[in-house]
Amino acid sequence: MFPKNKIIFSAMQPTGNLHLGNYLGALKNWVNLQKDNRCFFCVADLHAITIPYEPKELTKKVFELAVDFLAAGIDPEKSILFVQSHVPEHSELMWLLNTITPIGELERMTQYKDKISEHQKSINAGLLNYPILMAADILLYQPDLIPVGDDQTQHIELISDIVRRFNNTFGDYFKEPKVYEATIPRVMSLLEPTKKMSKSYGPNHCLFLADEPEVIRKKIAKAVTDEGGGKNEKISGGKNLLQLFKVLSDDKNLKQQLENQYRSGELKYSEFKPLLAETIIKLLTPIQEKRKELIAKPKEVEKILRAGRDQARLIAGKTLSEVKEKMGLL
Ligand code: TRP
Repeated sequence: MFPKNKIIFSAMQPTGNLHLGNYLGALKNWVNLQKDNRCFFCVADLHAITIPYEPKELTKKVFELAVDFLAAGIDPEKSILFVQSHVPEHSELMWLLNTITPIGELERMTQYKDKISEHQKSINAGLLNYPILMAADILLYQPDLIPVGDDQTQHIELISDIVRRFNNTFGDYFKEPKVYEATIPRVMSLLEPTKKMSKSYGPNHCLFLADEPEVIRKKIAKAVTDEGGGKNEKISGGKNLLQLFKVLSDDKNLKQQLENQYRSGELKYSEFKPLLAETIIKLLTPIQEKRKELIAKPKEVEKILRAGRDQARLIAGKTLSEVKEKMGLL
């Protein structure tokens, strides 16, 4: 059942250039959730500084991610949109939760292990403590549901442990975080459809929300359609493109027709690909127009973020003072 009257929290790191996988896998879902729920959406800038970065670039990426959220349809009248570092309660609660989190559990995290092998010259305590900051993000707002991708499941389980430990030690307070899993097809790379769409493989693997129509047409034209080296039909490039079309189009008959053609091996990519490209362009055009409008009005975006910060702090501050009291801090 689609959630109603729930408190929802989610966050995204400002890593630059959102792609269609980010939009269909997360943002679109957030936009739908905000209609009937109390939603908190956060730009996780404090998480982003755990890997080497350029300060000026970061400032730009934070602003652009807020713009992307708004352009995709996050409505500041309905949702609380804010930047993590604007709400100091996140860092403070994180410190408190640090003291009840076993190092061994942090060291077990797959993402931590991946990151320390990727950034061997800058292994810092922030990389290890990353999930405790996530715990603080979430627990300050006591949400019912957290829409996140399956790459975050392990972190959410760790946060459940932190909650149990807190409640056992200081008395029942936090509820265990619950992941909200929407039914969203995985959007795969255009060139290696066995892998999830990710900009780390290179720009031609992805469709970016900011890609111009001509770029989209070119990328789709170059997308692989064969079985991607496998007998496994589920991961073929053609199937990936068809999936994408099925998510984006409302035309049931056409979708069925294309599906049938695909199954019988008669799908003409020379006709299907341009159709798909135009469908994607139709989705992205209004988002891109809104994006341009907002980029031209940075003061307005800042005002929205300040208002979000004020609303978030009201709730976060209350939680933090209750937690401190429970922990015996005067
Ligand atoms: N770590 C998450 C990611 O990279 C982003 C994030 C930060 C988050 N804090 C969170 C997600 C709290 C959910 C809840 O995707």
